[in-house]
Amino acid sequence: MRKILIAGNWKMNGSTAANEVLVSGIVAGVPEGDGFSLLVCPSFPYLASVAGMVAGSKVALGAQNVSEHASGAFTGETAPSMLKDVGCEFVIVGHSERRAIYGETSADVAAKFQAAQAAGITPILCVGETLEEREAGATEKVIDEQLDAVLDAAGADSFAAAVIAYEPVWAIGTGMTASPEQAQDVHKHIRARLATHNAELAEKVQILYGGSMKGENAPGLLCMPDIDGGLIGGASLKASDFLAIAEAAAQN
Ligand code: 13P
Repeated sequence: MRKILIAGNWKMNGSTAANEVLVSGIVAGVPEGDGFSLLVCPSFPYLASVAGMVAGSKVALGAQNVSEHASGAFTGETAPSMLKDVGCEFVIVGHSERRAIYGETSADVAAKFQAAQAAGITPILCVGETLEEREAGATEKVIDEQLDAVLDAAGADSFAAAVIAYEPVWAIGTGMTASPEQAQDVHKHIRARLATHNAELAEKVQILYGGSMKGENAPGLLCMPDIDGGLIGGASLKASDFLAIAEAAAQN
């Protein structure tokens, strides 16, 4: 039985004061149950302070990006060991905003994935197609390329310590959500592709859905057999919105 993971990707939002309100609200309202876990991913300047706020709670800490290098002359970058040092258990790699806006290639993403694991941090590997790619019938091809870059570089066994997030680009921040069936189809495909390498491991890996997930659509998505949680942007910025999704996970 795979546990559900509800992860908040705060993106470039937050402040000392706003984070305090958000995290204290989340920590105070975590639903009962042990079939799910919660994660928040603030921007770099707030990782250490949020680590203090979530300490001893059911909420874990993650970062939104990481360098593929261990240390050295890489101005503006953050090493995986630094994330570990301030209490991160997870890091998002290959988010579509990093791929599209900052030009990260699948090879870059694979290097970050491996660097995170080498430092003992669980990468959350994001994959997903644009609307144009979906309409051209290329969804599976795009996902396969993104997944295979990591499978080739890190090996299938590396997914024993990784999470995958399917984030259709057209559903991110648009209010358009993939229907539970559309998401399930892609999640099933991802699991099947992993299963061609290692069937036992494919059954265990958590595959999250991301793209306008909210309290209202979470129950329908989370009850699908291959959807094991959510990577949430907009609805992770208000405690009550995030907790509504956590509640759906607890009820699932
Ligand atoms: P939204 O939930 O705002 O659509 O963002 C999804 C996302 O990109 C999470 O990483």
